Formats: sequence, structure tokens, C-alpha cells
Amino acid sequence: MADGVLRVRPGRPLVGQLTPPGDKSISHRAVMLASLASGESRIRGWLDAGDTRATLEALEAMGVPIAVIRRAAGAADLTVQGVGLRGLHPPARPLHCRRSGTTMRLLAGLLAGQPFPSLLDGDPQLRRRPMRRVTLPLRQMGAEVQDEEGHAPLRIRGGRLQGITYAMPVASAQVKSALLLAGLYADGPTTVHQPGPSRDHTERMLAAMGVEVQVAGLTVTLYPPTAPLAPLDLTVPGDFSSAAFPLVAALLVPGSRLLLQGVNLNPTRTGLLEVLREMGAEIVERAVRQEGGEPVADLEVRPSPLRATTVAGERVVRMIDEFPIFAVAATQALGETVVRDAAELRVKEVDRIAVLVRELRKMGAAITERPDGFVVRGPTPLQGAEVDSHGDHRLAMALGVAGLLAEGETIVWRAEAIGDSYPGFVEAMQALGAGMEDS
Ligand code: S3P
Repeated sequence: MADGVLRVRPGRPLVGQLTPPGDKSISHRAVMLASLASGESRIRGWLDAGDTRATLEALEAMGVPIAVIRRAAGAADLTVQGVGLRGLHPPARPLHCRRSGTTMRLLAGLLAGQPFPSLLDGDPQLRRRPMRRVTLPLRQMGAEVQDEEGHAPLRIRGGRLQGITYAMPVASAQVKSALLLAGLYADGPTTVHQPGPSRDHTERMLAAMGVEVQVAGLTVTLYPPTAPLAPLDLTVPGDFSSAAFPLVAALLVPGSRLLLQGVNLNPTRTGLLEVLREMGAEIVERAVRQEGGEPVADLEVRPSPLRATTVAGERVVRMIDEFPIFAVAATQALGETVVRDAAELRVKEVDRIAVLVRELRKMGAAITERPDGFVVRGPTPLQGAEVDSHGDHRLAMALGVAGLLAEGETIVWRAEAIGDSYPGFVEAMQALGAGMEDS
């Protein structure tokens, strides 16, 4: 999708099976932690996308040998020769995080523990995102970290760190994970209090590698390891956040019948599933199992009439990446859907409240902006339109799904961003019968 145009024609049901790409959050963490392990890790079904490549290349730049075997669009098997906790080399160049907030924030934590200087930078979009939320606590742990008025580039000189107890002002898995990674290098335990239940993949993976991580409610404590980290042998489960796009499409396009296979149902990620079910969605879980230390199932989806609802509080955190596609579902739900307590959406890849409202309105949606969320009145028939993702992968896919419900053709500009998290999205939707085409 070189010039980034997605053309969508409505009307055809989505029928068949789809395996979503590997979980993005788990893929970032797997390649980072495998690099710090002592010995060879094998990671199957790793998400090979723009964001996760940024993480992989940063680790290669610090001397970690990684063999990548590409299996399909967006899927690879990795063999990582872990260099041990103290085996990374100083990078010769700045580490470029592209548009990936997870890469930058998690690497900041990792680099805070390294006895060499490093520089983290990224695309203009990433340079606009807030970084003080990681630089501040990492300084408290004793690292030298310079930001540019709270933004990237970040200049880091790590070294001996002390464990701290830190109450995060926002519920962020990226901040929590950065502090836990730094905590691997601290002289005592690191404790993080979360205001809400953010995704817990770092805790699960570190524990599987032999690190002592205690979780008590919303508080996580990591004890610095006294033994090398054990290598990983992991199959990455499918990303619920990617599955959410075909899932909502199949709920809304009449005549659809979809089976989503191998979807990660970690409860810190499935707020959208709960909310959609409360709205009336018929989604059945089949073959519930454990894969890679995470709960996984197949999801059977049928078109369902939806009722409006309110989303607020801790649930917002458990569906933080799903609001673009949730807004599309809300345009077809009966009544007024309200989203509150979601101001974090303003500091994602773009201001997801402002852009979502502006672009969905072009398609005729009755959606209004609020400081910490939005309100949608439905059901509203959508009109095909020219809309702009503003370079945000999830907005591009959500607008593409909106196009499947609209009357007439929709064109999504700057849709190449889809490759940041879901290369192969358009082909997967086409295989189900969707009228999508990229060029
Ligand atoms: C992520 C955490 C979330 C999420 C992002 C991925 C992660 O960000 O929005 O897409 O992998 O830790 P925050 O931690 O900033 O909420």
C-alpha cells in the first residue's frame, strides 16, 4: 500500500475464518526479554509489523543475533540468541523507534539499566507523544535521562539503579513495563501502583522466565533476579486488538458468519468483548485454551442488533486501543453511547478523540467530542466519503470497517499506517469477501 489509499465498497457479507496476527504487545516484549535471556529463545507467530520491527532492529543494533523466518504477511518465527542481562553492546547510532510508543517507552526502561549512553528517537508523530511519564520515574531510579520538554529524542545514560515505589498517575502498561525492565537492574525491589488494570504481559513473561514478580491487586513488585533469565519457547497468541476490526465488521454487516481463530483473551485486554456482549452482540467462545501463558479461544461472530451503552472507569483501560472501532459499532447501536474517562486517547498515535469525531462525521455519524471521550447517537446510516487516518493504524482500519456499512464508496487516505500493527489486513478482509482494495 505504497501511496496509502484504501478503497472500500459496502454490501458484501463477511464469511469464513480468519487468524489474526500475533499480539503486538506480546511480540514487543518477547523479542526484548528473549534478548536479555541467557541462551536461545524460539518465538513462533511473532508479529512482523512496523512497530515491532522497530523494537527488533533496536536490539540487533545492540548486538543481539536474531534470525527471522517470514511465514506470511505479518507473521514470522524468530530465533533469538539471548546475550544475558548484561550482554548488550552500546549502539553505534540513535535507536529509531519509528511511530511505536511501546518501543520507545519500554526501551527507555531497558536502557536505564545499561552502563552506556544511548539515544531514542522516532518519527515526528512519536516525537509529539508524552515521554515524561517514563523519564521522571526512571530518573528517580537513578538513571540519567534527558528529554526535550517531555518529548523524544531521549538521551539515556544508565547504570546502577535503585528500586523505587512508584504510584503511576495514569494507568499505562508501557510505563509499568519500563519500570519493571529497569527494575531488573536495580539494587532492590521495584513496586508500581496502577490506578487501573493495564495489560499484564510483561509480568506474565518475566515470571515465566524465572523472575520473581508479585502481583497484589493493582500493585506489582519485581525483585531483581539473582539467576540468568531462562530463554523463551513461545507461540504468540492472536492479537485481540487486531481481531476487533473483523469482529465488529461481522457483527454489523448483514449475512456475515465469522470464526476468529486463536485470539488472546487476556482479561486486561478484553473490555471491548464484554461491552459488545452487554450491547447485545452474539459472540461465542470456542476451544478455550492456554497458549504462551495467555488464555486463548476461537470466537464465533454473527450479526447482532446492538443497544447503546456507557463506557467509563477501569474498563476504559482494558479496551484502550479499541475505541476507534467501538465508535463505529456505536453508530449502529440503538440509543446514546457515552465514553468517559478516556482522555488518554488524546495522546495515542494521534488525538484519537478529535480525529475519530471529525472523520466519522464526514460519513454522517452523529458523534460529538467531549474532553474525556465522545457521545454517539445511533443507529445512523453512514455515507461513503473521503476520510483520513492521519497516519494512525487503528483509525485507518476502523474507517475501513465503517466503509463496509456505508452507502457508496469510501476512500481512506494515509492507510499505509495499517502496516504498523496489521500487515495483511486488507487481504484478510478480502478473503472473507469484503469489498476492500488498497493501492
Ligand atoms: C501498550 C500499552 C498501551 C496501548 C498500546 C500498547 C503496550 O499504551 O495503548 O497500544 O504494549 O504496553 P499505554 O500503556 O500508554 O496505555
